[in-house]
Formats: sequence, C-alpha cells, structure tokens
Amino acid sequence: MMSTHPIVPPEPVRDLDWEPERAREVGEAALDLWTELLERLRDLPVSRMQPADEVAAAVEVPIRPEGMSPAELIEVIRPLVLEQAVYPGHPGFLAYISGAGTVPGAAADLIAAGLNANAGGWSLSGGVTEFELALMRWLASRFGLPEGAGGLVTPGGATSNITALKAARDAALPDVRANGLAGRPVAFYASTESHATILEAADMIGAGEASVRLIATDDVLRMRVDLLEEAIAADRAAGVIPVAVVGTVGTTGPGTVDPLPVIADVCARERIWFHVDAAYGGAAVFSTPLRPLLAGIEHADTITFDPHKWLSVPLTAAVLLAREPDRLVSAFDHEAAYTRESRERTRIGENLGSYSQAWSRGFSALKIWASLAGHGTDAYERRLAHDVALARYLAARVRDEPTLELGIDPVLPIVCFRIVRDGLTAEQTDDLNERVMEAIRREGKVFPSNAEIGGRYFLRACISNFRTEAEEMDALVEAAVRLGAGLS
Ligand SMILES: Cc1ncc(COP(=O)(O)O)c(C=O)c1O
Repeated sequence: MMSTHPIVPPEPVRDLDWEPERAREVGEAALDLWTELLERLRDLPVSRMQPADEVAAAVEVPIRPEGMSPAELIEVIRPLVLEQAVYPGHPGFLAYISGAGTVPGAAADLIAAGLNANAGGWSLSGGVTEFELALMRWLASRFGLPEGAGGLVTPGGATSNITALKAARDAALPDVRANGLAGRPVAFYASTESHATILEAADMIGAGEASVRLIATDDVLRMRVDLLEEAIAADRAAGVIPVAVVGTVGTTGPGTVDPLPVIADVCARERIWFHVDAAYGGAAVFSTPLRPLLAGIEHADTITFDPHKWLSVPLTAAVLLAREPDRLVSAFDHEAAYTRESRERTRIGENLGSYSQAWSRGFSALKIWASLAGHGTDAYERRLAHDVALARYLAARVRDEPTLELGIDPVLPIVCFRIVRDGLTAEQTDDLNERVMEAIRREGKVFPSNAEIGGRYFLRACISNFRTEAEEMDALVEAAVRLGAGLS
C-alpha cells in the first residue's frame, strides 16, 4: 500500500567526510612530524628501556565525543613518536631482524591508505590486484620459479609459513579441508634452527607441534640432510604421511642457510612439498655475490620472503610465492553466495582473497614496489653487500678482542658473540652475557639482541639497517668489552 505520508530523505551527515583541505592540513602536520623524526633520529636513544608501567603512564589515548583538530591530533601522536618509541631505523638498532623502514615505502603507505583499496576481491580492486600479481610474478621469476608462478603479499613470515604449510597439507590429503586430519598422522621437517612459526603453523593446521621433526644441524648450523632422510624413512615405515620439508635461508638465530639443492632432491625423490623459509635471507636475490646462497630455491613449491626484514620495507610487508598459485586457491577458496560473480560476463581477474585466509586485504604491495623502484635494485645491491662487509668487520673486531668469542663465521650479516672470562661456569657466562646485553641496551647507543648457539647465550647483531655503519660496530664492541669487564 502506498504511504499517505510524504517520503522525506534524511539530511546528509558529513562529519566523517574530511574535505581535501583538511586532509592537506592533517597530512602536512603528519609530514612535519615524520621529517622531524628523520632529522632527529640519529640523536635519539635507540630505546629508552623504560619499564612498562612508566611507558603506559606516558602514552595517552584520549578519545573525546567532539573529536580533534588536525593539529591537536598530531600533537597527541608527537610524544609517542619522539619520546616513547623504539627506533628500528636508528643506526644503532641491531636487534632481531628488522629493517629500518624506507622513505618511499612510508610515502606509498599513505597513498595506499588514502586509496583504501580492498585487494581481497578483483572487483573491488582490479588495478591494485593486477599490480600485486605482476609484482609477485616478477619476484617469483627473480627467485627462479617457472612461468606461471606467483603469490601474494601477507602480513608477515608467520602468515606466509602457515599459508604454505596448509597448502602442502591440503595437497597431500585432498579431503582434509572437509574432514580434517581425522586421526591421520602427518609429518613436517625443519631444522632445529628453523623459526618457531613452523611449529605454530603445524599446531594451527591441526597437525600438532609434535608433527614437526626438528632435524639436527651440522657444525655450521645447517640442516643435516642424512638425518632428514632417516626421519622421512622412519615416518613412512610407521605409516606417517610426510607432508613438507622446510629449508631455511637465514636462520633467525645465527643466520645460516640450509643446503637447499640437496633438500630439493630429497623432496623431488620422495614427492614431498618443498617450502623455503627465506623470510630474512630471501633478500639475497638482490645481491650478485649472495645470490649463490639461494641455489636450489628455484625448486621450491612455496617461498616465504619478508621484504619488511632486510629490504627495510615499512612493516608489515611479507610475501608468499608459489610455484603453482592454484595450489593456494585449492587450499583457501570458498564459494560464498555473497561473493558470487560471473567471470564470463564480467571478465574479472583473480581474487587474491582466495590465495590465503585473509578476505579483506590492504595494498601493502605498493610499499614493496615503491621501496624497490624508488631506490632501484642497484642501491639494494650496494647496501646488501655493505651489510655483509660490516658483519665481517664486526666479526674481525670480535676475534681481535681477547675477552670476546665469536659464535660462528657470519654467512649473512648476523654476528653472534659473547664475553668469556676465565673461572666462570657455563651458566655464569650465560648470565654475564645476558646482563651485558641489557646494560648495552640501557646505554641507548646500540641495541643488540641475543641468540643461543649450542645452548649457550650469545649477543647478536643483525645488520639489516641501512643507517648502520662501522661506527655502530665499534660502539658495540667497545660497550661489550667495557661492560663485560665491569660486571661481576
Ligand atoms: C626465518 C624466519 N621465518 C619467519 C619469521 C616470522 O616472520 P614475521 O615476524 O614477519 O611474521 C621470522 C622472523 O624473524 C624469521 O626469522
């Protein structure tokens, strides 16, 4: 029945629709803060090492009913950026494996957020999806994967690893998506130096952490392939289904590289999925002298690579490359009524939401591209070689100090070393080194982290920061020797 009342349209509500002038105002204020950070970065302490309660008290999260002006907004953010942050981009930041954050990558992130494309569905983001797919094809071909290979951008190596291992599981057991493992025993293989996310992935895909056979390493911390073969044979004999072998390029502790060509042969012979976790070391693909370390990676079924690590793309930006991207689709695609579309009539392309667990996805591909294209691959080539040279310099300085001991010769630019002193037990040496690491951090000049080699505590410097120079290597050695001598 027709309404007897006039139908009145609601008045527009434009509160959230900040006009371009206001966008410029807030954008310029943000730009001022960013460039101030870049100007002051070298003089700020890498970390202030404040306890959590002090930091919590110092950071404000005011949210008022009436909103804030662009200037007020940036004023609230200012102390967070200049007073309460740890700076992975500081030249003295040598901890973990974290890049410095490129300038073009940060600018690209603003555009990506401004565009707000949803790269989960092609119809929502045709150009953006094709851009990401093209970048992934380009990266895959640099790793030596064949025509047809591709992949997607993920939030991190952890996500890439679980995505890959789920695809491997689903390829091994075609009905597992519907029925689960249903008690069928499966196994994954990775070295004892592999990243914890492999265990996490096995847990999350229902196989359990115990399904990961942690294969012992040789004296230079590379997976022992003879033991890998033994483990696979033992599993087969016991009725366990071998699903995937993970080779690591750039182990998280000492930065070593598993023997990929031999692992690839085993996987081909045994018909097991070959996943390479090159989250850190994959950047070697941009370095002529380091490229040989990646030999064998071209045989991988899937590759994890984190441009937010050694390529310094602003967090987060990782990728998962696949020899056959359709294997990802087989593992993740869902026919949902609300995303149904006729491909024939609309001629849409691929939905990247079908490549992984994520449905809505942002445009992180842009900052990866902007970092590589803005700097150019030659600049990366030079800087990666420089990082290796700095690591060798640091290792030489460590060898030269009678109170310091080098862990292993660096393969990638990670240097593990410790303070040694006559008369201390192994536990006392561990304790001394841990306290020295904390004391170095407290001084705020350089910021190392730690690793275990042979079960013992080592200080660890990862040189993946394009602002780090020999000065920081010297500062680290000087602080370690001085503080090591000063602590009882
Ligand atoms: C070898 C390796 N794989 C995976 C990861 C996890 O990557 P993300 O922190 O990007 O999730 C790391 C992190 O350090 C790593 O070193």
